[in-house]
Amino acid sequence: MAELERWKGKVALVTGGTSGIGEKIARDLAGIGMKVAVTGRRAERLEALAKELKAGGGEMLPLPGDMRKEEDILSFFPAIRDAWGTVDVLVNNAGMGKMSTLAEGKTEDWRETLDVNVLAVSIAIREALKEMEGKEDAQIINISTIYAYRPQVPNFPYYQASKFAIQAMTGTLRAELHAKGSKIKVAMISPGMTATEFRGVATGGKLVYEDYFKDFHPLMPADVSQAALYILATPAYVQVQDVLLSPMGQGL
Ligand SMILES: NC(=O)c1ccc[n+]([C@@H]2O[C@H](COP(=O)([O-])OP(=O)(O)OC[C@H]3O[C@@H](n4cnc5c(N)ncnc54)[C@H](OP(=O)(O)O)[C@@H]3O)[C@@H](O)[C@H]2O)c1
Repeated sequence: MAELERWKGKVALVTGGTSGIGEKIARDLAGIGMKVAVTGRRAERLEALAKELKAGGGEMLPLPGDMRKEEDILSFFPAIRDAWGTVDVLVNNAGMGKMSTLAEGKTEDWRETLDVNVLAVSIAIREALKEMEGKEDAQIINISTIYAYRPQVPNFPYYQASKFAIQAMTGTLRAELHAKGSKIKVAMISPGMTATEFRGVATGGKLVYEDYFKDFHPLMPADVSQAALYILATPAYVQVQDVLLSPMGQGL
């Protein structure tokens, strides 16, 4: 897409790029010539990705850290500034959920879900805004889920609640920025079931995606990343609010 040319050499921060959707978005942003800072706890995966992207002519800064720790999130921004300058694109992708009912769920799992999926996203947005303010072209993309629209999974209450919160925050942020006359754009992507490591995490390793997707083809990380590229390809006057997508066969 020729429209993506304008992002070449600009700086992106992608949270949760050690696997799945975030990894694919990081690869694709490096592929269009962006300088990409990528976070995650699994430092060895970040190093391997950086090595691979650099070998292909890309630029990637590995930023190991835990999204539950505010000091880790705060440390990303000066590290990026030292390497390249301020952030132009923020992709809030890091996320998790633990399957349990409200009747039997563990408080610590609920707290972790809120910390990673809501608080960490809020902190990253606040810090990124300081750097994006006054820019003519800047984009925040929050990865939500189709369940923020259709909370139909009975044993996933906190995950769904956390993504409802993302939806509310995204809309509020857009209104805040509009009131200031800001040029920063804010979008969400709300995918249905996608083939990643997410379900392994959600079930404590009991289920991998092959168990889930016997009856239909899931979305692939590339399908979600295409939505991110579409958002970035839109001209400055177009605000994509949400890209809602699901695999055929999921029944949503
Ligand atoms: N898969 C789906 O069906 C689906 C559907 C809709 C939306 N989503 C959303 O898509 C996003 C990406 O998920 P995915 O499906 O690609 O799952 P994934 O493969 O499990 O990736 C999750 C990413 O988040 C990072 N992460 C999780 N907890 C973290 C923490 N405490 N600190 C730092 N990083 C953390 C992981 O990194 P480390 O483990 O290395 O820390 C990993 O890079 C999430 O926001 C998820 O809610 C997924």
